[in-house]
Amino acid sequence: MPNALITGASRGLGRALAAALAERGWSLLLTARGAQDLAKTHESIRHLAPVETIAGDVADPAHRVHLAEAAARMGGIDLLINNAAVLGPSPRPTLLDLRGPELEEICRVNAFAPIAMVQALRNLLPPGACIVNVSSDAAPDCHEGWGGYGASKALLDHLSGTLAVENPQWRVYWVDPGDMRTQLYEESFPGENLDYLHPPEASVPGFLELIGGKKPSGRYFAQDREALYPSF
Ligand SMILES: NC(=O)c1ccc[n+]([C@@H]2O[C@H](COP(=O)([O-])OP(=O)(O)OC[C@H]3O[C@@H](n4cnc5c(N)ncnc54)[C@H](OP(=O)(O)O)[C@@H]3O)[C@@H](O)[C@H]2O)c1
Repeated sequence: MPNALITGASRGLGRALAAALAERGWSLLLTARGAQDLAKTHESIRHLAPVETIAGDVADPAHRVHLAEAAARMGGIDLLINNAAVLGPSPRPTLLDLRGPELEEICRVNAFAPIAMVQALRNLLPPGACIVNVSSDAAPDCHEGWGGYGASKALLDHLSGTLAVENPQWRVYWVDPGDMRTQLYEESFPGENLDYLHPPEASVPGFLELIGGKKPSGRYFAQDREALYPSF
């Protein structure tokens, strides 16, 4: 059974990916801060595959060490999905009103933690391992109120590209999942009716195609399953 570590697996896209991989026989190591919601994910898929959950903050170096220790006990990680992310303050302030510590926190969770996670797991990711960093259309586009979150995802894209160039032994994908009806999206548009949006499950087939395929490292869009930019 291949092993996968998924961050932000307690709800939204992370939980949908965990369920899909469990159905396909992957052994899972899952994390998120909220222990209760993480336990609910565990409960819903534990009949499908071996699942270990460790609650904690991906931006906390000690938590990453705990995850690496669990990954070592599993015998390594074939697939790392850096999915956990935060929006920042809601309603979204313009850049002039976004406070320094808030911007730092967004970047710490959304961009620095995914790369630090790869560093923590570097000896546990064998050649051929797949690293998926969940990006956003907010990375290339500039819109009012999206400066902090968008900058963190642009940073993640750049770091992912460098990781790919420097590590041809891995497949590194940075993936825009498309718009999804999740808590993060609800926080982005508080009070709006979001019934028209796809659930996160709609983005899962695009991720599975990338994970199970042989596409070169690069930036991809999950809902259309088309490359956005030239790949390496
Ligand atoms: N929804 C969209 O339309 C959309 C569009 C483009 C990109 N994305 C991206 O898709 C990914 C999944 O987002 P989502 O929409 O599914 O959001 P979500 O429903 O809010 O889920 C976010 C997950 O990340 C976890 N998380 C947040 N901060 C964390 C931290 N510091 N340490 C550990 N876990 C943390 C959350 O659990 P806890 O809060 O309990 O930690 C939760 O499990 C994110 O990378 C997001 O940027 C989403």
